[in-house]
Amino acid sequence: PVPYFSLNNGLKIPAIGMGCWMGDVGGGPAVEEMCANALKNGYRHLDTAFGYGNEEHVGKAVRESGIPRNEIFVTTKLWNDCHHKVKEAFEQSLNNLGLDYIDLYLMHWPMAQIDDIVLGPEEHPTIVDTWKEMEKLLETGKVKSIGVSNFGIKPLKRLLSQCKVVPVTNQVESHPCLPYLELKNLCEENGILITAYSPLGQSNRVFLADPDMIKIAESHQVTPAQVAMSWAVQRGTVAIPKSANLERMRQNISLVTLSDKEMDLVTSLHKKPGMHRSLLAYHHDGGVVFGWTYKQLDWP
Ligand code: A2P
Repeated sequence: PVPYFSLNNGLKIPAIGMGCWMGDVGGGPAVEEMCANALKNGYRHLDTAFGYGNEEHVGKAVRESGIPRNEIFVTTKLWNDCHHKVKEAFEQSLNNLGLDYIDLYLMHWPMAQIDDIVLGPEEHPTIVDTWKEMEKLLETGKVKSIGVSNFGIKPLKRLLSQCKVVPVTNQVESHPCLPYLELKNLCEENGILITAYSPLGQSNRVFLADPDMIKIAESHQVTPAQVAMSWAVQRGTVAIPKSANLERMRQNISLVTLSDKEMDLVTSLHKKPGMHRSLLAYHHDGGVVFGWTYKQLDWP
């Protein structure tokens, strides 16, 4: 069985979840089938977002699984163009999912957008304004925990200096090519768990072919992907790999225990030439990430 981590509010989160971002296609019935298979194969944690366009399908898989609701951990996220209407957006997500409550609600990006216009960090609603509205959601009982996503050090420090409720998690891209050592330290000092998205590097998986990764994998008779997953959990991060393939989704929750030496090796992989890469960096061109500038994201 997949281990659990404790959140700073005492609740528990399965250390591995199914990431439900299916690219621009959104997913439709395919995401429903993926989630149903995941739940049949031992997953108890599904991570979606309003922005993924598939909350309906994830929710349907949860409702039709026959597994008690309180045994499944469901995460969804507030989209950028809803920072000025958090309550409404939350209700919409709850409705889409068809559930009575959400386990975890995240601010998807530290950036608000009105229609297509991205607001600067000082324009209202700021991330602090938005967070205050998210804090209010806790009082409704319809969300158990709140957190953030894609927060670099700067926005996270800013939020921490002004929040009443400390986020339970900061969900960021993280894998052996991107261990985020400094951000992880900051999070740990403040009782915030890192949730690693794209823990297998998504389309940018150079580390899976690294000779050291392969050697470690062979010595444990597992795949390099399983080494990456084991490393992620053993270093204390939640990981949410996406796989629609039965064999691979089973692999991703079958962990091994790595030695200290092996852990160190994987943690320093990003120092090898050409290895330090992120998906965002991969997509970014002259400082533009998906059309947003790093300045707008206030990152790091
Ligand atoms: P598939 O769905 O066909 O298994 P990430 O979660 O890091 O974004 O990576 C997702 C990508 O990695 C998907 O393309 C997924 O494809 C693939 N993937 C998932 N699990 C594994 C695995 N164990 N080994 C190799 N590739 C995997």
